[in-house]
Amino acid sequence: MEIKQIAFIKSSPDLKTCPPEGPPEYVFAGRSNVGKSSLLNLLAGKKNLAKTSSTPGKTKLINHYLVDETWYLVDLPGYGFARTGKQARNDFMLSGWEFIRKRKTLSCLFILIDCRHHPLESDLAFINIAGENQVPLALIFTKSDKISGVALERNLTKYRNTLLQTWEELPPFFATSSLRQTGREEILHFIGESNRNFLNNL
Ligand code: GTP
Ligand code: MG
Repeated sequence: MEIKQIAFIKSSPDLKTCPPEGPPEYVFAGRSNVGKSSLLNLLAGKKNLAKTSSTPGKTKLINHYLVDETWYLVDLPGYGFARTGKQARNDFMLSGWEFIRKRKTLSCLFILIDCRHHPLESDLAFINIAGENQVPLALIFTKSDKISGVALERNLTKYRNTLLQTWEELPPFFATSSLRQTGREEILHFIGESNRNFLNNL
């Protein structure tokens, strides 16, 4: 699947001010600075659509982008990160989590994880709580340009093994680099398939 057209619709401070439910939504969540906005730009094929920054806490609102007039990409504020302090934690906890829990048209929650790290407590807690709430999810390991292919495989295996201690079935895994522009086709293909399922289940 390719993206032909993408339009920024709005930034919403909370669930009740979001665009009406309708099109399937693909949501990017993850720790501040993990590369959510950069990945959105990579998928869209536009460098500066979503604002990115080396300072954590750049995205403070729920941002809706309508793709080909049929589905949404949604960029959320990042969750917990010591440097961003209490305010950024609140941005996510108040608006992001409510959105994830209550939005009926959420087709897939992509949880982004920095591929360089060993499984972090905050990421695992978030994955587990999303799973317990039956949120459909997939994991995206970002910044794969920062480590070797061997180290990437080792870290992904470690993640799979950690999750298998509590999960019977693993969610889909993807690896991306916004710098090298890799991982894009796999994710767009997955979204194309999910859109078909979403429409069939209406
Ligand atoms: P918040 O909005 O603060 O939650 O951050 P975010 O998750 O949207 O991260 P953002 O896309 O703004 O990227 C954070 C920093 O990481 C920026 O300096 C990006 O240039 C950098 N970055 C993002 N993705 C990649 C990647 O794949 N490779 C490399 N090398 N750098 C990346
Ligand atoms: Mg951002």
